[in-house]
Amino acid sequence: MSKKILILPGDHIGPEIMAEAVKVLERVDSLYSLDLQLDHALLGGAALDATGVPLPPETLAKAREADAILLGAVGGPEWDKVEAARRPEKGLLGLRSELELFGNLRPALLYPQLAAASSLKPELVAGLDILIVRELTGGIYFGEPRGIRTLENGERQGYNTYVYSESEIRRIGHLAFSLARQRDKRVCSVDKSNVLEVTVLWREIMEEVAKDYPDVTLSHMYVDNAAMQLVRAPKQFDVLVTGNMFGDILSDAAAMLTGSIGMLPSASLDKDGRGMYEPCHGSAPDIAGQGIANPLATILSVAMMLRYTLDKPEAAAAIEAAVSDVLDQGLRTADICAEGDTRVSTSEMGDAVLRALQS
Ligand code: NAI
Ligand code: MG
Repeated sequence: MSKKILILPGDHIGPEIMAEAVKVLERVDSLYSLDLQLDHALLGGAALDATGVPLPPETLAKAREADAILLGAVGGPEWDKVEAARRPEKGLLGLRSELELFGNLRPALLYPQLAAASSLKPELVAGLDILIVRELTGGIYFGEPRGIRTLENGERQGYNTYVYSESEIRRIGHLAFSLARQRDKRVCSVDKSNVLEVTVLWREIMEEVAKDYPDVTLSHMYVDNAAMQLVRAPKQFDVLVTGNMFGDILSDAAAMLTGSIGMLPSASLDKDGRGMYEPCHGSAPDIAGQGIANPLATILSVAMMLRYTLDKPEAAAAIEAAVSDVLDQGLRTADICAEGDTRVSTSEMGDAVLRALQS
């Protein structure tokens, strides 16, 4: 059966990297007879300029119809003065919440060819392959009540509510365990259950979920220790599962272990495994229009889409192998280029991946 893929190029380097990712997607579509139907829509600043809102109803309708969404990145300084509700990022956040994309997958995988780019010593990160599973639609980022209030004594007080229901914890737990099954079968759940009641419940539910996955090992770690362990001995982890805020922080720290933001893909999944796939980086206005952006994070996001939504692991693996092949050839965009490497443009990198796919 044909699958619908919605392409949202976004702003600044978004369309540049997306052109390369679409080339790769179309190539695997024909190589693996995937029967994909590609459609395009506007999101973010591009949508704001064209329609007055960052998430037009037409885009939302197409997104609901799609099996998977591939997004470039949105935003840029030209929209800084737009009021909060209509800013480009609101389009992205709106899409995540409308589609209930609660499961955010952020792999931190270090290509050995790029080991020198890591912030850690090569021996600590060589072969690093961890997957952070972050709850994306709950926790303190969304809890009510929230705000800034003025107390009787005139002092102002800011407050947010940290809340997770059992069902929210359970569904992110099941996602993490089922992903661990496809990997090294180890889940580390990160909480702060020595201080926060929310995460006492979190830990309890994770234990419960673990019973359904006897082949997967569950361990627990406090978030402060997890932060320390991530930079001390990151290879001890396989899958890390955690809430929205801890996941936000830990996934950015883990990203830096791999060196370049231009290499990191991500997925955000709903309960049926449909999802939105995008690079971890933003729209990089500082390098837009120069043809130098690294398209590999977006190309690797296509691989994640094939693995997690379209259930085509062999096509996903082919893309990942092609990326590795291109790095072996010494081809590098500016952001990952070191002495002795061959510097290539955005589209030359895309073409090199196509050639490697073919061979
Ligand atoms: P950024 O990730 O766009 O850029 C940070 C630095 O990394 C820049 O120096 C940029 O040139 C470089 N960089 C990023 N992606 C690259 C790539 N593929 N190849 C080579 N170099 C790359 O983050 P920044 O500058 O904080 O944000 C720029 C805009 O992007 C803002 O409007 C921000 O709101 C938006 N943004 C959007 C996101 C999204 O759509 N998911 C995520 C993060 C930021
Ligand atoms: Mg972040």
